[in-house]
Amino acid sequence: MPAYSNTPTLKAAVIGYGGAYNMGKAHLDLMQAAGMVPAAVVEIDPERLAVATQDFPGIELYDSVDTFLSNSDANVVAVITPHDTHADLGLRCLRAGKHVVMEKPMAITGAECDALIDAAKAKDLLVTTFHNRHWDGCILRAKKVILDEKRIGSVYRIDLDVGIRGQIADWWRSSNRISGGALYDWGVHLLEYSFQVVRGKPLEVSGYRHHGYWKTRWNEDTIDDEIGAMIRLDDGAVIQLKVTTLDPQTGRNMVTFYGTEGSYGFDMDGYELLLRENGVETAERGPNPPGEQTRFYPNIADAIQGKDSLVITPEYAASFIRIIELCHRSALEGRTLPFPAGT
Ligand SMILES: NC(=O)c1ccc[n+]([C@@H]2O[C@H](COP(=O)([O-])OP(=O)(O)OC[C@H]3O[C@@H](n4cnc5c(N)ncnc54)[C@H](O)[C@@H]3O)[C@@H](O)[C@H]2O)c1
Repeated sequence: MPAYSNTPTLKAAVIGYGGAYNMGKAHLDLMQAAGMVPAAVVEIDPERLAVATQDFPGIELYDSVDTFLSNSDANVVAVITPHDTHADLGLRCLRAGKHVVMEKPMAITGAECDALIDAAKAKDLLVTTFHNRHWDGCILRAKKVILDEKRIGSVYRIDLDVGIRGQIADWWRSSNRISGGALYDWGVHLLEYSFQVVRGKPLEVSGYRHHGYWKTRWNEDTIDDEIGAMIRLDDGAVIQLKVTTLDPQTGRNMVTFYGTEGSYGFDMDGYELLLRENGVETAERGPNPPGEQTRFYPNIADAIQGKDSLVITPEYAASFIRIIELCHRSALEGRTLPFPAGT
């Protein structure tokens, strides 16, 4: 009898137990801490299945999603695989009657997100995206200073700046086809941070790209050396997003909110609040508070059991995919493009 088989209500499975960041173990640990029982791991790489069985002795192991869906009674599945597989795997799990947590990005296109949302609704199941960074200490503090204490006035621009000059790494993230493009990794997190603070709806995007400087085994399919976009919102604010492997210098902060009375920036380590009155600058700098990412899975457990509403709704998660998809299209076509109504 597998050690994890006599479950109460929520039996957790992960599809993908990759070694890059040990995300499969991270999800199962968080799911377990939220009261779910780790029940199954689905992974096509036998070496990673061996790691999973060491981490969770007795857990069910599957080398294909088909065998998992035909044999396991796990009812909450996290999809933690390369981006081009997300939509298909998520849809198959939903159609088999399982609640689904998609790793970010929810999928590569808005149409794929719509299909996931429709499939969940058709079976009255939960689908969401693992926006763990919703509870990062850096954004929790930023919201307190900007929204609660109103220290920087009204936000009119957000600069999102990630990356530094260096050879594009040799992994699946460097393939446009598999990853979706350079904005689908950190870009998703950065936009999610931003829309916790700004309320405007995206109106249009003007994207640009530089492509082909770095060579990888993906040849023409290699992600852009640098891609960026100016996203105009309907309240007049703009978001300037840049992901680079060419810029020799990082931005001052990964995220900076500019307001009418000051600016507030942060990276993973710390924050910087800058104010200037009568020519005199005051600067406050310090570490970010600890994150509260552990709040994600308790909300999933509660939402499934009807005890709470879902914080990261699929519509919210899909909104970032629609923005990123259009940023990439605008950059590729080299022209400004409008967001469809309702984005
Ligand atoms: N939220 C975060 O903070 C965070 C951090 C890291 C990664 N991620 C996301 O997690 C996902 C996975 O990234 P990673 O870094 O763990 O990649 P990874 O390459 O380390 O792991 C992916 C694993 O999926 C497996 N896999 C691929 N296709 C499969 C299939 N059809 N069935 C079963 N297993 C399959 C691969 O064998 C591999 O072990 C991505 O969506 C990534 O963006 C999120």
